[in-house]
Amino acid sequence: MYSGVKVLVTGCSGFLGPWLCQRLLADGAVVIGCDIQFDEQSRIHEMSDRIELVELDVERLDKIEDVISKHDVQIVFHLAAQALVGKALAEPLATLATNVMGTANILEAARRLQNSSKALKGIVVASSDKAYGEQDELPYLESAPMQGRYPYDVSKSCADLIARSYFHSYGLPVTVVRCGNLYGGGDLNWSRIVPGTIRSLLRGERPVIRSDGRLVRDYTYIEDAADAIARLGLKHLSADTTGGASFNISADIPLSVIGLVLLLLDATERQDLIPVIENSATGEIRVQFLNSGKLRDETGWTPETSLGDGLSRTVEWYRAHENLIR
Ligand SMILES: NC(=O)c1ccc[n+]([C@@H]2O[C@H](COP(=O)([O-])OP(=O)(O)OC[C@H]3O[C@@H](n4cnc5c(N)ncnc54)[C@H](O)[C@@H]3O)[C@@H](O)[C@H]2O)c1
Repeated sequence: MYSGVKVLVTGCSGFLGPWLCQRLLADGAVVIGCDIQFDEQSRIHEMSDRIELVELDVERLDKIEDVISKHDVQIVFHLAAQALVGKALAEPLATLATNVMGTANILEAARRLQNSSKALKGIVVASSDKAYGEQDELPYLESAPMQGRYPYDVSKSCADLIARSYFHSYGLPVTVVRCGNLYGGGDLNWSRIVPGTIRSLLRGERPVIRSDGRLVRDYTYIEDAADAIARLGLKHLSADTTGGASFNISADIPLSVIGLVLLLLDATERQDLIPVIENSATGEIRVQFLNSGKLRDETGWTPETSLGDGLSRTVEWYRAHENLIR
């Protein structure tokens, strides 16, 4: 339990942030949420009476140190990132600055506070399946090397390596989490396949698939992912955990993009809207999915939500927030 434990969630105003904050609040944590900007539409505002919200740019090392010290933070969940693959291709430098230096800054702030009364008990860094790049062996295990090739992937490979280097070099209590594709309500990143497809279908438009539809990924419901991350953070509160470990988070269900879109046609009852296959995507790994056995073995985590239920809940969320999709 997190009863009374002070946690800082960076990037709290994005998609994963509010779900993680909600999970931590339910478990009794005192949550400080920070982001460079608070989108009016973000789910984080639904819980703003129970969270302290702080504007913070993770590219500002001095400010991070101030926030951690001022709030006596015990565990940091570092989610803040430029998390869009297409934007990273168009803006590699800005993406590297946020994802690589932003992560290094969080760790460096922790290192500076390490031998003080403000020392952190844990730092959980959101890496990604993309950090692995393309691998011959499927599903990916945590032991696979970091070999991103495209800008977003490389930014995540670097951030992941840097995070673990702060454990190996300075003994900082770091855990790295590598999620596959997450889906659920509240994702306002319309260039992503799940929210983009649902928006098209609810608008009565044919959904557009940028790839040839045959890319394979795994899909984890957002509340299950938030639960896994919260469980891993909790490990830092027990005396036997020093950190340095990485964990895949995945429901272990690989699916092609076209297979996913067809399920969304069913979930929205819009089988009449035949997908447009653009086949214009570049810089994407063709087949990528994770093995989450280590996470299951070490935390007892298991995904509670089947793909069918998760997609129905997701569609319901967007239906209930119709103003966002018009
Ligand atoms: N959503 C997924 O499918 C997925 C999969 C694997 C890994 N991840 C990782 O999980 C994390 C959260 O992803 P998400 O889907 O919520 O992304 P998101 O884009 O919805 O949220 C990221 C948040 O970070 C904030 N941010 C960006 N630059 C910042 C800065 N300089 N300082 C402070 N905040 C900043 C953004 O404003 C945004 O609110 C990211 O690190 C992402 O790489 C996500």
